[in-house]
Amino acid sequence: MNDHDKASPDSGERLVAGRYRLRSVLGTGGMGTVWRASDEVLHRDVAVKEVRASIDLPAERSRQLHVRLEREAWAAARVNARGVVTVHDVVNFDDRPWIVMELVRGRSLADVISAEGALAPKAVARIGTEVLAALRAAHGAGVLHRDVKPANVLLADEGRVVLTDFGIATVEGDTALTMTGEIVGSPEYLAPERALGRTPGTASDLWSLGALLTRPSKDARHSAERAPCRHCAPSWTTSCRRRTGLGR
Ligand SMILES: Nc1ncnc2c1ncn2[C@@H]1O[C@H](COP(=O)(O)OP(=O)(O)O)[C@@H](O)[C@H]1O
Ligand SMILES: [Mg+2]
Repeated sequence: MNDHDKASPDSGERLVAGRYRLRSVLGTGGMGTVWRASDEVLHRDVAVKEVRASIDLPAERSRQLHVRLEREAWAAARVNARGVVTVHDVVNFDDRPWIVMELVRGRSLADVISAEGALAPKAVARIGTEVLAALRAAHGAGVLHRDVKPANVLLADEGRVVLTDFGIATVEGDTALTMTGEIVGSPEYLAPERALGRTPGTASDLWSLGALLTRPSKDARHSAERAPCRHCAPSWTTSCRRRTGLGR
């Protein structure tokens, strides 16, 4: 997310929708790749999220990912708050939707923990307060984030704490998008009711925030977030209830 963004040999400086020139990779996650890009119309830098595309991906799965990306943009755009990433646009290019959003210059909390280990209690308290305000705004707009974790919290160089990645968020009144074999969130930050497949509420996001604040150390991140589950490895699904000790 800084000048030392990951190299982008495969961007080929693609021009998305005749307007957004992809420059370098800011980060990757389960859904796809986020690029630093230049908006050639407004002459500013933006972040552009590309959904994962592969010829090996079944057509139905691709379609679901496209719908999910559009819903992500829609959910995030409903929330107007300083602590929530601003979505500028969704464009169709290469038969896929792409999200154009504000570029947050800084690092994700996951990257900071990974590089520096434990954070000072004061910093953790500030991050907690800011993410809480972002969640309040989201919940007030009828949006459940459902994936609060360090990789989805961006720490901007200018001091803002920004919640991003509404990829599995739900919006009140909207029908749920079910995807078979789906990873429903990161196990270490998943509220027990969600692990048990029960209906989540606003408290589930707060549970994840609490888990996030108690895991600000490098060791915890590596041992807990990356340890494969011996019951359902390599993925985590609601069907595996034993990892948390909540199932039988
Ligand atoms: N608006 C943004 N500005 C800067 N970096 C971003 C932005 N959005 C995402 N990133 C970076 O890209 C990574 C992956 O983005 P994310 O939306 O979480 O993708 P996924 O849904 O695949 O997990 C984040 O952890 C962060 O490092
Ligand atoms: Mg993410």
